[in-house]
Amino acid sequence: MRYRKLGRSGLEVSAVAMGCWAISGGSVWGPQSEEDAIAAIETALQVGINFFDTAEAYGAGRSEQLLGKALRGRREQAVIASKVSPSHLHPADLKAACEASLRRLQSDYLDLYQIHWASRDVPIAEALGAMEELKAEGKIRVIGCSNFGPQDLTDLLGHGRAEVDQLAYNLLWRAVEYEIQPLCVQHAVSVLPYSPMAQGLLTGKFSSPEEVPEARRSTRHFSRNRSRTRHGKSGAEEETFEALSAVRAISDEIGEPMGNVALAWVLSRPAVPSVLAGARNAEQVRANARAAAVELSEDVLKRLTRATEPLKELFGTNPDMWQSDSRIR
Ligand SMILES: NC(=O)c1ccc[n+]([C@@H]2O[C@H](COP(=O)([O-])OP(=O)(O)OC[C@H]3O[C@@H](n4cnc5c(N)ncnc54)[C@H](OP(=O)(O)O)[C@@H]3O)[C@@H](O)[C@H]2O)c1
Repeated sequence: MRYRKLGRSGLEVSAVAMGCWAISGGSVWGPQSEEDAIAAIETALQVGINFFDTAEAYGAGRSEQLLGKALRGRREQAVIASKVSPSHLHPADLKAACEASLRRLQSDYLDLYQIHWASRDVPIAEALGAMEELKAEGKIRVIGCSNFGPQDLTDLLGHGRAEVDQLAYNLLWRAVEYEIQPLCVQHAVSVLPYSPMAQGLLTGKFSSPEEVPEARRSTRHFSRNRSRTRHGKSGAEEETFEALSAVRAISDEIGEPMGNVALAWVLSRPAVPSVLAGARNAEQVRANARAAAVELSEDVLKRLTRATEPLKELFGTNPDMWQSDSRIR
């Protein structure tokens, strides 16, 4: 496993992190056994993954609880990132949300605390002020944000620092490359890619939109005719599956699993120290961890980038993977 620093912080994290949303099951991910979730986290530590991303919103605290349970007695081996929901950004709410996360995680500190989505009601200076107080009290070590576009990130950086901006980023979803990523490079803020396998699409296990579980056909890749979408547009199903075929062909040619190629590609992009790979069992964790050792040649990287350029152009600059009326500014 390779380890890299987050932003200008001293936090050293594994290049492949474990995203802990899916282990909470729920309406997007469906049934999930606790045994598999705990085994996934234990396996992550065994294969050198030290970075775990969760949120108070995942399974209404279930993900944090599972992580706390699995890490009992070995908290110091892990770098835990959690997130506060946008409805909890008033300073008193934010502090209470942090305390509740700590209780569920059975820890007295969070390594990284991120604002999950920007709020249109609470000025960023107020939320950051509460974060700084938590830092001074030793309850959080590093401050981050998530789903912050150029306007929100610039606003935040005018009042303080965030060491990471967590955003949807994968071969099929490259909107961050237009504006946010260059801004992150300029300010030494790390981009933490979420949904790096496009919620499983980039592992190659679905060969048509019909095979994708209904609850995951909610992104702007899919047509408004799919019941879970809320963007109201025609989507890009044909183009998405064409791009997937191209990624599959390149992966087959170099003899690497498609999912690992997708993770290695995003790890090669500017300002990306670590990738948040979601996993629901030990086997997926082991498979994803191997991506840290995959070295893609310059030629392969260029071909992957070129193959997914039409999709990038089609989706344009809106980085919101679900809504055309973007919540990201
Ligand atoms: N900040 C935010 O707003 C935000 C939003 C979304 C996600 N995130 C973070 O990013 C993390 C990852 O994103 P994500 O979970 O949306 O998507 P993802 O990492 O692209 O996909 C994860 C899913 O793909 C499948 N999978 C994973 N590894 C596999 C493998 N080796 N072989 C076959 N299938 C595999 C699993 O689902 P199945 O087995 O069910 O197919 C898994 O749950 C989350 O856990 C969360 O920490 C943050």
